[in-house]
Amino acid sequence: MNDRFLRACRREPVDRPPLWIMRQAGRYLPEYRALKERHDFLTLCRTPELAVEASLQPLRRFPLDAAILFSDILVPVEALGCRLTFAPGPRLAEPVRTRAQVEALALRPMEEVVPFVGEAVRLLRRELDGRVPVIGFCGAPFTLAAYLVEGEGREGFGAVKALMNRDPATLRLLLEKLADAMADYLDLQIRAGAQAVQIFDSWAGILSSADYRAFALPALRRLLRQLGRGGVPVVYFAVAAGHLLEDSLETGADVLGLCWRTPLDEAWLRTGGRVALQGNLDPHVLLGPPEAVRARAHEVMDAMEGRPGHVMNLGHGILPDTPLASVEALVAAVAERAHGAPRAAGLAVGAGAPVHPEEESP
Ligand code: CP3
Repeated sequence: MNDRFLRACRREPVDRPPLWIMRQAGRYLPEYRALKERHDFLTLCRTPELAVEASLQPLRRFPLDAAILFSDILVPVEALGCRLTFAPGPRLAEPVRTRAQVEALALRPMEEVVPFVGEAVRLLRRELDGRVPVIGFCGAPFTLAAYLVEGEGREGFGAVKALMNRDPATLRLLLEKLADAMADYLDLQIRAGAQAVQIFDSWAGILSSADYRAFALPALRRLLRQLGRGGVPVVYFAVAAGHLLEDSLETGADVLGLCWRTPLDEAWLRTGGRVALQGNLDPHVLLGPPEAVRARAHEVMDAMEGRPGHVMNLGHGILPDTPLASVEALVAAVAERAHGAPRAAGLAVGAGAPVHPEEESP
């Protein structure tokens, strides 16, 4: 099996950085758009054969090092009794804002409510036949709470911060319920064969460090504590959360996914090599010419040169209007790293002889 991705998650040596792309199954692919013409988004998520088809589409085109289950972070909230539509962003039939509403959320077993997710993971493993690992995923409790309280995606997410200040105990109860639900949901995917899992915290960045530590972090720790991991690496990806990097080490995740705002060399110094890092090419770079994509991809990889534990990825999901030639240029840049010699003169440390100066000083 191509286990570059899993090895990098464990900070073991690899021949080149593994590459996968957040939202790699999606609208920039003409074959995905064709699939979407025939089926609506939730039907794709709920039908294992269709979800597996969407997951496989990017891998047929590009030699990526991992497959991600096709679904959405909001799909499992139906297990708490929330009714959901996509238009195209998620929309909840009823926002959850009062103590009574939060208390009424009942956690039904994921195996009963979303059995199609386990089925899709099993089918995806079978179809891939060991070629690349399968990544399962869920939303972080705080990000899911932001959607449930707001009712839909909205810049700023004023409603969840209003609840946090008006009635912190109610938000805490909601976060606990979501943590328990997501532990059950990730367990379902791991039991079905997911070889790594990623927790998406798209809205953590709206919190100060103090509020993150008071609300988001305890829920993440609760989630990870309950997870029967069995060696399955956990990637934690928070957006616009450079100010929370040290705090997010305390989640217990094996890999921290960086959005494009924080340079990887800075992140490496601040995390002291205690976790692997994933990311973080700005997805907008892929709207430029292929030569720029290639150069900027090398800059990202140069920032990690010689250090173990880098998973190459974008710094947020790939944009729907991304040209396929840009993805090809990204793939080519990563392939160029397989030939050994570091490319950036300033960071050249001799192939095969990684140095970690920051670890040598007291
Ligand atoms: O990465 C993958 O290829 C796997 C599939 C995946 C989707 N959503 C499919 C999707 C994953 C991992 C997600 C995660 C997700 N969903 C996040 C976290 C990552 C991030 O972007 O911050 C969030 C916040 C959501 C919620 C969500 N789903 C929004 C805000 C939207 C609308 C905006 C948008 O990007 O379209 C969706 C819809 C959605 N999820 C689509 C896809 C392919 C588009 C639906 C369509 O095809 O019409």
